[in-house]
Amino acid sequence: MEYEEYSPKTWKKHPLNPKTANEEAVEWIFIVDLLNFCFWTRPVDKDKEFAVTYKGTKYTGYWSLCACINRALDEGIQITTPEFYSRVTFDQVSYIFRPDDEHSEPMKMLAERHSILNTTGKILVQNFGGKFLNMLKKAENSSLTLIDLLVNNIPSFNDSIDYMGNELSFYKRAQIVVADIWACFENTGLGYFFDIDSLTMFADYRVPQVLVYLGILKYSPKLLNLLESAYFGEHKTSESDLVSHGDRYEIEIRGNSILAVELLKQAIKAELQAQSNLNSIMLDFFLWDYAKKNSASMAHIPIHLTKSVFY
Ligand SMILES: *[C@@H]1O[C@H](CO)[C@@H](O)[C@H](O)[C@H]1NC(C)=O
Ligand SMILES: *[C@@H]1O[C@H](CO)[C@@H](O)[C@H](O)[C@H]1NC(C)=O
Ligand SMILES: *[C@@H]1O[C@H](CO)[C@@H](O)[C@H](O)[C@H]1NC(C)=O
Repeated sequence: MEYEEYSPKTWKKHPLNPKTANEEAVEWIFIVDLLNFCFWTRPVDKDKEFAVTYKGTKYTGYWSLCACINRALDEGIQITTPEFYSRVTFDQVSYIFRPDDEHSEPMKMLAERHSILNTTGKILVQNFGGKFLNMLKKAENSSLTLIDLLVNNIPSFNDSIDYMGNELSFYKRAQIVVADIWACFENTGLGYFFDIDSLTMFADYRVPQVLVYLGILKYSPKLLNLLESAYFGEHKTSESDLVSHGDRYEIEIRGNSILAVELLKQAIKAELQAQSNLNSIMLDFFLWDYAKKNSASMAHIPIHLTKSVFY
């Protein structure tokens, strides 16, 4: 991280992220993280993976979502405006999130994305004056308050699950909303949060893969075997390839990823006084970018496939 001078400023260097920290950027971040889930593809399906070319670059995975949003805005579609997305039709959603090639897969879980847009748009129109910005202001610079507001007002942010009688909360997307605003505004103005260090990493399917690659997380032989045959199998993708949402394996992979990043943060802080303002967001961002940049080197490590609107 030191070598790359990795900092919150790195966020704006991603070509698709907003370059100006303003109210439009806040609504952009909100809609992107509202739909920030389920972009995985099994290697056997790689040739028909959902892809979007924007300004000459082809994007897949999470970045294909951002490319669709930017392309829609360029075409004059008000996709970042809650009033618009509260009444967007499925046909419009299919158009906005269309792939380059009509023969490739549609974006995953498109019907769920449409339903989330409809529900969330209505909530923001009815209770927050038609802007996510008003929810952000209501949080009064507290990341934890903003997470509570998101989780309590918008059902799809409630990334909680019952695990052996305990309610566990991961809040991957709610935390990323905060983290992206914080990074975009470089912790000033609308993006200043006094309690930003309370956040954990964002438990998804990509960061566990890089944690395994780096030898920080280790799967039991039984789990590794299960994930390998589901992910690398040559057969057509089926339900049996999935780790179902709420499965003990899913919860433990996500939970251990959070613990691993917390321990990594403590270890780095103990080694290097210079990194004393390191937080879990920066580690998560770095690990995720690292996974994207080095995806070929870690292609032999399976990811766990869960169909879920939470990550
Ligand atoms: C949005 O959802 C409501 C139900 O809550 C439904 O009546 C309406 O038709 C939906 N709108 C669109 C555009 O699908
Ligand atoms: C969130 O989900 C948990 C577990 O599924 C549930 O117990 C809780 O009531 C939900 N919270 C809200 C605000 O809906
Ligand atoms: C939140 O932080 C900003 C930037 O420091 C400040 O201008 C604003 O007054 C703060 N808001 C509240 C409610 O404290």
